[in-house]
Amino acid sequence: MTTTLITGGTGKTGRRVAERLSAMGRAVRLGSRSGDVRFDWEDDSSWGPALAGCTSAYVTFAPDLAFPGASDTVAAFAETAVAAGVTRLVLLSGRGEAGAQRSEQRLMDSGADWTVVRCAFFAQNFSETYWVESIRAGVVELPGNTAEPIVDLEDVADVAAAAFTDDRHVGEVYECTGPRLVTFDEAMRAISTATGREVAFREVSPEEFAAGLVAGGLPDDQARDLADLFVDILDGHNATLADGVQRALGRDPHDFTDYVHRTATTGVWPG
Ligand SMILES: NC(=O)c1ccc[n+]([C@@H]2O[C@H](COP(=O)([O-])OP(=O)(O)OC[C@H]3O[C@@H](n4cnc5c(N)ncnc54)[C@H](OP(=O)(O)O)[C@@H]3O)[C@@H](O)[C@H]2O)c1
Repeated sequence: MTTTLITGGTGKTGRRVAERLSAMGRAVRLGSRSGDVRFDWEDDSSWGPALAGCTSAYVTFAPDLAFPGASDTVAAFAETAVAAGVTRLVLLSGRGEAGAQRSEQRLMDSGADWTVVRCAFFAQNFSETYWVESIRAGVVELPGNTAEPIVDLEDVADVAAAAFTDDRHVGEVYECTGPRLVTFDEAMRAISTATGREVAFREVSPEEFAAGLVAGGLPDDQARDLADLFVDILDGHNATLADGVQRALGRDPHDFTDYVHRTATTGVWPG
């Protein structure tokens, strides 16, 4: 049986892709620092053992493809994977950041069959990581209030899982967005309405944003990198819709309000 290494297998998309492949009867191996098998992007000696016996891999780089050096690491991983017998790589990528584009190209050059899943801002950032605590506290702060075609990770995972199971996705770049643009103001109003509890949005300067991250425990350099990344992401260049979900799956992506209603019923946000 073929086995797929899912890097970031405990993360937001990795977990969902693994669930889908397992449900189809395919063998998966969750690779991360705390996964089934130890896999650490910062320790290349962990890559070979994690890849042993795998014929495909889902590549989600941490902390972020846009960070300095990410493309070199992704290229080295792809080379190790191909040498280990991997013939298919599916990359989770961002939309247009220079580092993400460099990583895409290096992975495409690896010699493996590839699919790139480029993603807009994840809806689940509000419920599974970054801003869940801010929403509980009643105010979300970001260095920009551009309109974003926020994408539901249930759609992204469907696209990524399909890329492992259907050869027609080889060599495709799927740019995945939600079906409409949503400002962060609107997003917080939707969450407020669904939970019956006011969550405000506040646009802050990049310096205030970085200071908030440092106050939350992030080291200075990572806070600065993350602030730079968000200034880049939220400069308006992503305020367009794309049709990756439709092209890959032949159906429309879910609306942000579907995600909000589904998530509100889980109790992750206080009502
Ligand atoms: N968030 C967005 O809106 C967005 C949009 C477009 C693209 N992306 C891309 O999506 C990717 C994933 O980002 P995410 O924020 O959604 O993360 P995530 O997948 O929710 O979580 C990070 C995952 O990576 C693992 N991980 C963390 N550090 C690691 C390390 N040093 N070595 C190996 N595994 C490590 C974590 O597990 P352990 O803690 O067990 O190691 C976890 O499984 C990034 O490359 C980002 O560029 C994100």
